[in-house]
Amino acid sequence: MQSSEIRTRFLKFFEARGHKIIPSASLVPENDPSVLFNTAGMQPLVPYLLGQEHPMGKRIADVQKCVRTGDLDDIGDNRHFSFFEMMGNWSLGDYFKTEAISWSYEFLTNKEEGLGLDVSRLYVTIFEGDENAPYDQESKDIWMSLGIPENRIYALPAEDNWWSPGDNGPCGPCSEMFYDMSGDVGDLTPEGFAEANKKETVIEIWNDVFMEYEKANGKVIGKLKQKNVDTGAGLERITAVMQGKKTAYDTDILSDVMNLIKDNAKNYSEKLARVVTDHIRTSSFLIADGVTPGNKDQGYVLRRLIRRAVFKMSVLEIDSHLAERIIDIFVDKYVSTYENLNSEFIKNIWKEEENKFSKTIHESYYIWFPYRINTRIG
Ligand code: SER
Repeated sequence: MQSSEIRTRFLKFFEARGHKIIPSASLVPENDPSVLFNTAGMQPLVPYLLGQEHPMGKRIADVQKCVRTGDLDDIGDNRHFSFFEMMGNWSLGDYFKTEAISWSYEFLTNKEEGLGLDVSRLYVTIFEGDENAPYDQESKDIWMSLGIPENRIYALPAEDNWWSPGDNGPCGPCSEMFYDMSGDVGDLTPEGFAEANKKETVIEIWNDVFMEYEKANGKVIGKLKQKNVDTGAGLERITAVMQGKKTAYDTDILSDVMNLIKDNAKNYSEKLARVVTDHIRTSSFLIADGVTPGNKDQGYVLRRLIRRAVFKMSVLEIDSHLAERIIDIFVDKYVSTYENLNSEFIKNIWKEEENKFSKTIHESYYIWFPYRINTRIG
């Protein structure tokens, strides 16, 4: 199943269950100066999780663009991306655990309307309880009523199963779903499950957060006015699972760009190709959302992404013009979903920044630069 089909199925599934579909918000938060980017689907919805009435009602579904750049050095492994799409269904003071868990399960396993994943390869986790909230017996009972065996349900501490976007705002315990990537993992002890997760033989594919608590200054201060559900399923992860790949770099989302880089690099490295692919995609979306390279805030992150990509391309020994072809590929792929992607606009900003970077390097090249920079000023 192609990624676009997964996105469409997700939205249709929840629309058929009374959810209104809303478009992704911009990557740059509109009313929240505390974060540079929307890093999760819930961020643009915080006021509504806190009780403000949403104009579209209490049941919402969306696919939110997200950017996380806290761990740029991890990019290149199987699961970190600086840009990703988070599919989410939301209850803003409406349904709670029973519906959220049942629908997650149904979407994952139903062949006609959902993804038709193999039930015998699923594992789930629930919150084990602490001073803030009790052991989540209710979620466990719901999972068992759906047929998940008790020995495939693992109770984990807040470190794994409490979700909050930061030190303040809505938060709560969560229940996560994991999938056996190989098909022959079978039953796992809690220790075996932790190990399989670390080795990526089972991977997390969906998170149901039961947002009924509130944090202030890093501490849970009590319950919210309403019980909310925030679910998040990363499109990249789910696509990898559906296409039997270990990573989204090998799926229809990114493999064409990866292959293009491979075909054009004189000094190919899989890890560097992944970084270039990741950074060009993220930069394209940031530029489309109005970010321009600069020395602070969002602009600084964009500058860093472009310069890192240009530098890695030089190490791969790729003609820097390839970046423009890659931008075209991404725009073609995504423009029917994200209409603000404009290839010429993105390429102009990219080229301008690339030239500035090349000039800086060129000027200092003879003094200290130890490697060949393959750019158009060279
Ligand atoms: N907010 C949760 C997450 O990002 C679920 O959407 O994982």
